[in-house]
Amino acid sequence: MRLLAIETSCDETAAAVMHGTQLLSNTIATQEIHQLYGGVVPELASRAHVQRIVPVVNRALSQAQVSREALDAVAVTYGPGLIGSLVVGLSFAKGLALQLGVPLLGINHLEGHLFSTNIMPDGPEPPFLSLIISGGHTILTYVREWGNYQILGQTQDDAAGEAFDKVAKILGLSYPGGPAIEKLAATGDPRAIDFPQARLKNLPGSSRPQFDFSFSGLKTAVLYYTRKLSPEELEKQRADIAASFQYALINALAENVARAYAQFPTRAVALAGGVACNRTLRQAFAKLGKQKGFQLHYPEPIYCTDNAAMIARAAQFHLATGRHSPLSLAPDPGLVLS
Ligand code: KG4
Ligand code: ZN
Repeated sequence: MRLLAIETSCDETAAAVMHGTQLLSNTIATQEIHQLYGGVVPELASRAHVQRIVPVVNRALSQAQVSREALDAVAVTYGPGLIGSLVVGLSFAKGLALQLGVPLLGINHLEGHLFSTNIMPDGPEPPFLSLIISGGHTILTYVREWGNYQILGQTQDDAAGEAFDKVAKILGLSYPGGPAIEKLAATGDPRAIDFPQARLKNLPGSSRPQFDFSFSGLKTAVLYYTRKLSPEELEKQRADIAASFQYALINALAENVARAYAQFPTRAVALAGGVACNRTLRQAFAKLGKQKGFQLHYPEPIYCTDNAAMIARAAQFHLATGRHSPLSLAPDPGLVLS
């Protein structure tokens, strides 16, 4: 089964070709234009997808040395994401599937992130806990089996990556903020400032496990802290602020995962999404894994941030179970993991 997968849910135009579970190519065009605005501008994102989708798909096919006619299926992200971005990939995928007379398969972007640790061999096998930490999402999931997911916690306000991006802006760093904060934090003292960590309680009367996250208080604490400083003091303390913010955010994530692990003691815990690129975070979770006795998995950075290889891997699983989507499939910007 040769499969082309397309991902255009946000600001990466991406395509990948997979044969069985073997990844033959993985191409990504990152839209740098958003750096000028300090965040993704939806209209610019969809225009850029329109310009790039054909060359990106052609590059994925030529790198894989697979012709369009040799494809057996076309998979595409249909949500969640920006509607104008989703519609570009989805329309292209539908047209191609129709032209080639092959099945179309719509994939949930979040399920793609769950599969991102399994693009390469030796990924975790269910049941395991997965923490998706990206610019748009912070979701802790119990992967009971592939296709069967229980959300244990989500952010109640900002996503983890969004907090990195907003704090980076406060500190005058470039977008995306995560890599910039990580670099600056490496020269700072994580214990210099005691920023607050939100500890959320179970919702009253709720029987479902509740391991939600909140990062807006932390971001606001950084803002108020910096406002009190003179420009000279801010310059002197920037690395300490970055390190202390990063420390508080990682601690909040790790504490919640540790609480969830006590209730769902799986053999493995997986990290996914752009924030999972962060090396200090990986080290903190590796340490937690040693203490608790779970195996930690995370993808290579290129599979942490948005990519089409993870969409291909999820599609490969669904196609094997015979699932197809109708050509009437609509984009679903608010799609949840279920
Ligand atoms: O998964 P992703 O590419 O896009 C979404 O689906 O949102 O994640 C992008 C997010 C951005 O917020 C970016 O600042 C963050 O991931 N990020 C990082 C690092 N690299 C990317 N955050 C912390 N440390 C990093 N090294
Ligand atoms: Zn994503």
